[in-house]
Amino acid sequence: MSLFIKKDIDRLLADAKDPGVSEGGHSTGLKRHLTAYNLTALGVGAIIGAGIFSLTGVAAANYAGPGIVYSFIIGGILCAFAGLCYAEMAAMVPVAGSAYAYSYATMGEFIAWIIGWDLVLEYAFGAVTVSAAWSGYFVSLVTKTLGVRFSDLAVRFTKGPWETVTLLDGSTSAGIWNLPATVIALIMSAILYRGIRESAKINNVIVFVKVFIILAFIAIGWGVIDSANWIANPAASGLARLVPAQEMITRHGREYLGFGWPGVLTGAGVVFFAYIGFDAISTTGQEAKNPQRDLPIAILASLIGCTIIYILMSLTMTGVVNYKNLAVSDPVAVGVDRIVELRHWSPVAGLALAFSVKFGALAGLTSVILVMMLGQTRIFYAMARDGLLPWFDRVHPKHGTPGAATIVTGIFVALCGGLMPMSLVGELVSIGTLLAFVLVCAGIPILRITQPNRNRPFKTPAYWFVSIAGAASCFWVMTGLPLDTWLRLIIWLLIGFVIYFGYSRKHSKLRLGK
Ligand code: ALA
Repeated sequence: MSLFIKKDIDRLLADAKDPGVSEGGHSTGLKRHLTAYNLTALGVGAIIGAGIFSLTGVAAANYAGPGIVYSFIIGGILCAFAGLCYAEMAAMVPVAGSAYAYSYATMGEFIAWIIGWDLVLEYAFGAVTVSAAWSGYFVSLVTKTLGVRFSDLAVRFTKGPWETVTLLDGSTSAGIWNLPATVIALIMSAILYRGIRESAKINNVIVFVKVFIILAFIAIGWGVIDSANWIANPAASGLARLVPAQEMITRHGREYLGFGWPGVLTGAGVVFFAYIGFDAISTTGQEAKNPQRDLPIAILASLIGCTIIYILMSLTMTGVVNYKNLAVSDPVAVGVDRIVELRHWSPVAGLALAFSVKFGALAGLTSVILVMMLGQTRIFYAMARDGLLPWFDRVHPKHGTPGAATIVTGIFVALCGGLMPMSLVGELVSIGTLLAFVLVCAGIPILRITQPNRNRPFKTPAYWFVSIAGAASCFWVMTGLPLDTWLRLIIWLLIGFVIYFGYSRKHSKLRLGK
């Protein structure tokens, strides 16, 4: 049988409707609890996180200067192409597998496997990366803002074994285990295990807190913006004044054109991470009350809302602080300190504000971990229902969540977050996501041509242009990522091939005619 055997869309939809029973006699039906509001909040929950709270500063300082706002606009447009394609697919095929399932219908089992396996990079490793950033913000909140002194042992239990920590006597040592990253991952997986309704409720609260704090930051910062900070190149005119002159930057052993418009484009590749997550909404297709109407609304609303927030946030950050001073992992905290200084607020008010912003960042990162892990469990679930993975289609009889997938994902993220070198995973998340976007965009014209009469509750406008522009621009961002990231992607896919040919192909329900 062909490597590229395709699953019929009607069968995908029927499988999703049928509560089903797994091979061991366990129920495989999920519960429909999510409203349009919940879905949009899940999108915002997944999108706003480490990208804006950590990466913006480094991207501005190293690549784009104050032109980082253009990087965000470019990133937003690029994701809008992919978002429109996801919206069409999600409304037409509202199933848990998302991009994996769409590829099963459009490009066949082998490509679907590649995407399913690749999505582990986006969702599970995305959660790993953000849990490490969570740990950094948590330690900073407790030690710097609240003034708690950690013992040497405590310090060593806040970083992984590949990282260096500074001990009380000033000497340096290796970390032992990044315990906060492990703990937050375990807490999030416990919430996911408990139920989709409970997870959505907690996510709603967290999203409210983070959006409120971000809007407050913009509101109090906007009044003290020094527009001279935006003009990095006084010799130029018009928009080019935002962007400083060009020079070469070395990153991961590869040379990039820094600053100038090339720097803005490199910056767009870096801050692309900030947009990752809107697609996770589509993995809840089997848990939404009215998926055909609500999934496109939620995908597009969360993407548009977050793009506006990012534009305002990056303008505020680079307006109150000179971009050269933003090369830190907590640029928003640097922005807050400067706002307090400019507004001549008392140290107590400054402390309260710094605490609130770090708390908002922590909230932001928390919901990203939650929704990324949610996406991962649903992808594993869908792959197992098709027989390509074992056990993960078992659903908890009372909670209605894919219990086995949730436990395995939780342990995986907790261990990797605590012990893995972050330099290995960061950009892998972006490349994995971009690959999925390319294939989802490519799937739109394929299905329009092969199945023109299928019911499409949402239609991508100008679909030829949007899908080609989406696939091409995502591929273009991939080409800008460092060579070692590409190598890691290839190694990851090779491991996936071994599992596919060793297990999945032999157990595929489609092949077995089940
Ligand atoms: N977009 C998510 C973040 O920035 C992954 O943390």
